[in-house]
Amino acid sequence: MNDCTFILFGASGDLAKRKLIPALYRLYVHKRIQKLLIVGVALEELSVDQVLEGARTFITDYDAIQYTAFASCMRYQQLDVGNADDFVRLAEQLKRYEQSFGMSGNRIFYLATASYFFCQITQQLAVAQLAKKWHKDDTVYHRIVYEKPFGHDELSAHAINECIAQLYAEQQIYRIDHYLSKELVSNIALMRFTNCVFEPLWNHQYIDHVQIILSEQVCVGLRGRYYDNYGALADVVQNHMLEMVALLGMETPEKLTGDYIRNKRADVLRAINIDDLLLGQYEGYKQELGVSSDSTTETFAMVKLMIKNRRWARVPFYLKTGKCLDKKETVIFIKFKKVDCLLAKDCPTDSNYLTIRITPNASFSLTLNAKKPGQSQEIVPVSMDFAHSKLFGPVTPESYEVIIEDVLRNEQSVSVRFDEIEYAWQAVEQMRQIEAPLYTYTKGGTGPDEIAAFERKHGMRWKA
Ligand code: BG6
Repeated sequence: MNDCTFILFGASGDLAKRKLIPALYRLYVHKRIQKLLIVGVALEELSVDQVLEGARTFITDYDAIQYTAFASCMRYQQLDVGNADDFVRLAEQLKRYEQSFGMSGNRIFYLATASYFFCQITQQLAVAQLAKKWHKDDTVYHRIVYEKPFGHDELSAHAINECIAQLYAEQQIYRIDHYLSKELVSNIALMRFTNCVFEPLWNHQYIDHVQIILSEQVCVGLRGRYYDNYGALADVVQNHMLEMVALLGMETPEKLTGDYIRNKRADVLRAINIDDLLLGQYEGYKQELGVSSDSTTETFAMVKLMIKNRRWARVPFYLKTGKCLDKKETVIFIKFKKVDCLLAKDCPTDSNYLTIRITPNASFSLTLNAKKPGQSQEIVPVSMDFAHSKLFGPVTPESYEVIIEDVLRNEQSVSVRFDEIEYAWQAVEQMRQIEAPLYTYTKGGTGPDEIAAFERKHGMRWKA
């Protein structure tokens, strides 16, 4: 029976309002979960209506009748994570709710809380017997989902992993990186390995370099306090960007599921070597709410990294990310090597490259050389495009719907395994060891002026 009790820790928080509750609403309305009970949990004394109120504006396909039905599946429980009695009370309540809803006992615990609560909450789930350890003969499942960021460095991530591993099996653990569930990101491996025009070329013999760009127009907004403790390297490079490197760089997995894919991603993350780093901070950042007035936190980062294996020998991977920039886009450029232009006088320097546009306008495009119309032998770049929306309609469902559905059907490739997380933090530690100066840049611009010197130094040019 496709039924599930969804216990949402951090129910009053931003992620719950913006993403998780709207995702649950859509899964419920579109009957992708047949029977749902949601138990919101947070420190504040709140009613179900108060919890739902904040999420209401983020539900895009709102329908009054469906919304009322959805709201009737929700309960709320005040809980202090430091109070063991509160967990006992939660366990009792949960049993009562599940009985009255006629649930079979499947449970997903979603921890949308700060990561320093992860170990404590996990321990209490075990002590209060809210979640039981996975066993192969189980007829119901209990799964625990940890929202990112998972720790703030390698040591803290390792400590959380150890804490979880003492109580639960990796088969029931999910560490979330919502980029892994984005349509075009999850398409990377499929596209690489199922196309003869790419698969044999995907190595140092044919690829010149790779660029991964994650630009954001938004500044830190109301998240200043969180962001100032993390910065761009920990906020998006450690997770979203390095997972994209892993998918682009991995060897062929036997299957594109669960541990087959996670083994190969982990191999790439373990082999990362950081070569160069440039950091920036936008003007006015220190005046943002919650940010320290002498903050040295980076809001912009550019990284050059290498993957130490035969496939990627001498192929740089360049990453660029920043907040408060001129545009919002996430895009990957794979530049192929230049061919000898035998017949033509000159070839464009960017002869062939593959663009994977994650957002906005999810698409692939391949740039090729073609003859300019007319008598001349002049070569011009032309592009072959596939726009996701033209063929399949807009990218739906949203990342968090995909994540919850994957947890429901126990597909773990959407989750970052314990070792991947630690290798990715090791890569960030390497970055932190480089004493990179912090340059400033203007809000709404393209980043620090020093980008040009970085480009010259490495003989590359950002494509966006
Ligand atoms: C989150 C970061 O993980 O990813 C945010 O914490 C960032 O700071 C966001 O804005 C970017 O995700 P997306 O899906 O909007 O590109």
